[in-house]
Amino acid sequence: MKLDPRLAPLVRARTGLAIADDMLGRAIRQRLRERQEADAEGYVSRILDDEAEFADLLDLLVIPETWFFRDPQAIAHAARFAQERHARSGVPVRLLSLPCSTGEEPYTLAMALFDTGLPAAAFEVTAVDINEPSLERARRGLYGRNSFRARDLSFRDRYFEPQGDRQRLAERVRNQVRFRQGNILQLGSLRDGTAFDVVLCRNLLIYFDDQTQGRALSHLAALMHDDGLLCVGSSEMVSAMRHGFASLGVAHASALVKRQAAAPEQPRPHPPAAPPRRKAAARPPAAATLPARLRARSLPAPAPASLVSAGPSPLEEAQRLADAGRGAEAETLLRNVLEADRGQAGAHFLLALILPDARAAEAERALRQALYLEPGHYPALCRLALICERAGRLDEAGRLRERAARIQTRAGDDA
Ligand SMILES: C[S@@+](CC[C@H](N)C(=O)[O-])C[C@H]1O[C@@H](n2cnc3c(N)ncnc32)[C@H](O)[C@@H]1O
Repeated sequence: MKLDPRLAPLVRARTGLAIADDMLGRAIRQRLRERQEADAEGYVSRILDDEAEFADLLDLLVIPETWFFRDPQAIAHAARFAQERHARSGVPVRLLSLPCSTGEEPYTLAMALFDTGLPAAAFEVTAVDINEPSLERARRGLYGRNSFRARDLSFRDRYFEPQGDRQRLAERVRNQVRFRQGNILQLGSLRDGTAFDVVLCRNLLIYFDDQTQGRALSHLAALMHDDGLLCVGSSEMVSAMRHGFASLGVAHASALVKRQAAAPEQPRPHPPAAPPRRKAAARPPAAATLPARLRARSLPAPAPASLVSAGPSPLEEAQRLADAGRGAEAETLLRNVLEADRGQAGAHFLLALILPDARAAEAERALRQALYLEPGHYPALCRLALICERAGRLDEAGRLRERAARIQTRAGDDA
C-alpha cells in the first residue's frame, strides 16, 4: 500500500508523535485488516476527519497502557505534596493528569488524596487525553482485570464494587475528576486563569522527538504554579530536565519543579571578583529559599525504627541518582553492580533506561540481557519494542509487543 506522503507529517503535526512512514503504514494496514476494509486510499483520505477512527489508529501508535496505582511512589509523593499544600494555603488544590488514557491515573490521584484524609472540597483533578473513546471509557468508571495490576490492591475494597466480571468505581471518586479532550501541544483551552499545583505527565513524552518534548513541557510549565510539582515517567526525567525542569531527587517518583523555582543561589565567586550584578540582587529572597523548602517537603516520611534497614540497595541508589539527574554516577554504580554480578535483570533494565537516545544500541544490549535473565520482564519488552520501532525494525517491534501483551493478559488472569 502506498501512503500519501502528506499523511505522516499531518499525523505528526496533530499529535506530536515522532512516527516513521513505515510504522504508520503498518498501523494503517492493521486497522484495515481489523475493519475488513480493502479501500486503503479511501481510508487514508478520511482518517484525519474521523475522530473515532483516528483514536483507534493512535492506539496502535502509542501503547495505551495504564493501570491503577502504577508507580505507587510517584502517586504517594504527589498526594503528600498536594495535602501539604492544602494544609498551608487552605484553598482547593488543582491536579492535572495528562495524558489520562482510560482514567486509571487521575482516579488513582483522587483515591490517594482521599487516603491522606483530604475531603472532597479540598481538591479537584482535571484529566485530559487526545483520545475521546478512551475518555468515554474513563467516564463510565467500570474496569476489568488489566486495570488492577498493582501489587497492593487494597484500594479495590475501599473504592470499588464488583459488577459482573468488572469493578465499578465509587461515585465520590468519580465526582472528583473532570475529563476533557485535549492535545498536549494545544492546551490553550485549559488556561482558565487558575494554575495547577500538581501535574502528572507520564508515558507520553517518550513518543516525541526532542523538539516536540520541549514544546509539550513548555505548555505544561505555562499551566503550572511556579512552585508546583511535575511528575513524569522514569524514562522521561532526562527530557524534562533538558527542557526547563529540575529534579527533586525523590526516589522512584520522577518528581520535578520548574528550574526557576529550584535554581540554587549562585555560588559566590572566590575570591570575590566583581560586585553582584543588579539582576542577581533583584531576585526576591523567597526564590532563594525555595529549593530548601521544596526538598524538605519531598523527603519521605521516616520509617518506623523496626523497619529501618541497612540503607538503600545499590539499585535503589542508582535509581535515586538517575532521578536526581546524576545519570553518569548512576551508570557507574550500575556497571559496578553488574561487574560483580551479571545476573541482575533489574540492573540491566535500569541501565537501559538511563542511557540517552544517542546510545540506543547499548540500551538495546542491556534490555536483551534483562530479557535473557527474566523473559517475562514486561517493561523491558515495551522499552525494547520502542527502540526497535524507532530504528524502523517494525516486525521485531510487533513481535515484542505481542509478547508483552501475552504477559499482560496472563498477569490479568492471575489477578
Ligand atoms: C501510555 S498512555 C499514558 C497513560 C497514563 N499517563 C499512564 O502513565 O499510565 C498514553 C496516552 O497518550 C495519549 N496521547 C497521545 N498523543 C497525545 C497528545 N498529543 N496529547 C494528549 N494525549 C495524547 C494516548 O491517547 C494515550 O492514552
